[in-house]
Amino acid sequence: MHKILVLNGSPKNNESLTMKLVESFLAGVSDISLDVKIETINLYEKNIKPCTGGFECWTISPGVCVKEDEMNDLLVKYVEADIIIWATPLYHYGITGVMKIFLERTLPVFLPFIDPEGGGIYGHPYRNPEKMENKKHVLISTCGLPSVEKNYEGVEKQFDNLFGQGKWGKILCVEGELLGISQLDNFTGPYLELVKVAGREYISHMSIPETIKDGLKKPFVEIKAFLELSNLSWGINDLRKDESDGGLIAWNFMKQMRAAFNTKVRPGLNTVLQMDFTDLKESYQLVIKDDECTLLRNDFTAATTRIYTHFTTWERILEGKLDPTEALMEKKYTVEGDFSLMNALVDGLFGSMVLHIEKKKKILPVVFKNTPYWFILTMIPWMICFFLSNSNPFHAVIVPLLVSGGLCAIKKGSELVYFDKATLLFFSLLALVTVPWSIGYDGMTIAFSGFMGIFVIWFVSVFKTVTLTADYTHFFNGRNALRNVLFLKTNRILTLVWALLFLVQGLMAQWLGTTSMVNFAAVIPQVLLIPGLIFTGWFTKWYPAYRAKPE
Ligand SMILES: Cc1cc2nc3c(=O)[nH]c(=O)nc-3n(C[C@H](O)[C@H](O)[C@H](O)COP(=O)(O)O)c2cc1C
Repeated sequence: MHKILVLNGSPKNNESLTMKLVESFLAGVSDISLDVKIETINLYEKNIKPCTGGFECWTISPGVCVKEDEMNDLLVKYVEADIIIWATPLYHYGITGVMKIFLERTLPVFLPFIDPEGGGIYGHPYRNPEKMENKKHVLISTCGLPSVEKNYEGVEKQFDNLFGQGKWGKILCVEGELLGISQLDNFTGPYLELVKVAGREYISHMSIPETIKDGLKKPFVEIKAFLELSNLSWGINDLRKDESDGGLIAWNFMKQMRAAFNTKVRPGLNTVLQMDFTDLKESYQLVIKDDECTLLRNDFTAATTRIYTHFTTWERILEGKLDPTEALMEKKYTVEGDFSLMNALVDGLFGSMVLHIEKKKKILPVVFKNTPYWFILTMIPWMICFFLSNSNPFHAVIVPLLVSGGLCAIKKGSELVYFDKATLLFFSLLALVTVPWSIGYDGMTIAFSGFMGIFVIWFVSVFKTVTLTADYTHFFNGRNALRNVLFLKTNRILTLVWALLFLVQGLMAQWLGTTSMVNFAAVIPQVLLIPGLIFTGWFTKWYPAYRAKPE
């Protein structure tokens, strides 16, 4: 079993940004080994007095400090632990004061003698070499500035002297303050994932591979954009106190939005987004071209999308306090022009946005078996049923059963979705009921059952969190489509329309069965699919834009 002791030197205790890294690191550790005991000590919450340098821990009470505070208990934990994680923000190019006090108070673990360590270097031997010499040390730190060089020189030297050059692990995270800005999760998320990988590697090999180390040194965002972002964030707070008309606030805010632009969300995007802050009566344009984003305050070009909003509404959206899709449904802001840009915005084109999912839905990776193309395959058994029911009722049941069974077998277990399973279930039941009496069985009954079957399957889906049309079309609507309430609402209506269309088809077939067109009674209603598809194409664009439109 590995005993891990985390020493948190941040005055922010559990709110510390450095501890975010520690959490990811430990998540990686726990992924690999369940045989670990982790204890975290928030040093700022402990009563640890500074060392007063009397050497009593070497002379009067060897190995025990004479001060009556919490340090002696902590020292026992320190000696017993196999891995020490030194978690500290960088303060004035060093570890924080409280961590330095803790470090000084570890003097009792050394013996007073001075031993040569080789190469003209001297040090004190450990009192308990078995425990202390095998101990592993990892420094996890965040700092405000964007580079490790110079910034961490002092701490690295100190740790080399304390624990031996190259014998301790480190995760030094520059631009650390960005970890606290939810809008930038797109940038910080992958870093935290890498820290998790580092945790996994560390617990497996007691070291962090070079490739991961290189990744951990990189700033979250380009230094130029970072400087702009951080300088602006200070500026905004100051200006807020003085400026009542909001003029500079919005301009600085827009500069922040531009700095958070993430071209990876939609590479090659060519668009002009105009932000109209209706309360401030100010407009700005973000022109995206050649993977670059330019902010305009005047000399506007033709906007492709315009967002009309109160400044605070948009600010709350980008701070992750307001769901952009819910706010849009509630007309807290409106959108005009090319609505498709909204998908890119909720996917984090200008920083992360927070969407609330009604119910968690497992989002399968986009593979062929999980796309609209597969949906067309799932419709084939139904079409076979309708096309054969009047001419050969027996085949109209058996062939769809085999086809849907085959499709389910290709997909296998976890990849099967509601429509696949419901289709197979329906044709299995139909076969069970009809096949034993198939000779001379009435084709109209098979056709009508088919229409009612597909109607019920689609109608039930209207009440599911993710309806059938949403499930099959979300791949075209950005990675957050299934969390987008407007997308889900649009598709709830659409799925209902399709369910009703199948019902109408069934009634139409039933009526045609009473006319001279009885031999084509199940085929003729298929013409209704054409207006159905045209309506779908139009409605998926029109409805979200209609809900977003200014009144
Ligand atoms: C007193 C003080 C001194 C700091 N000194 C440095 C410094 O020398 N270099 C640096 O890059 N950041 C410096 N910072 C910024 C912190 O390292 C940074 O805000 C860190 O991410 C805070 O981490 P925490 O949330 O875990 O406390 C300093 C911050 C404070 C409050």
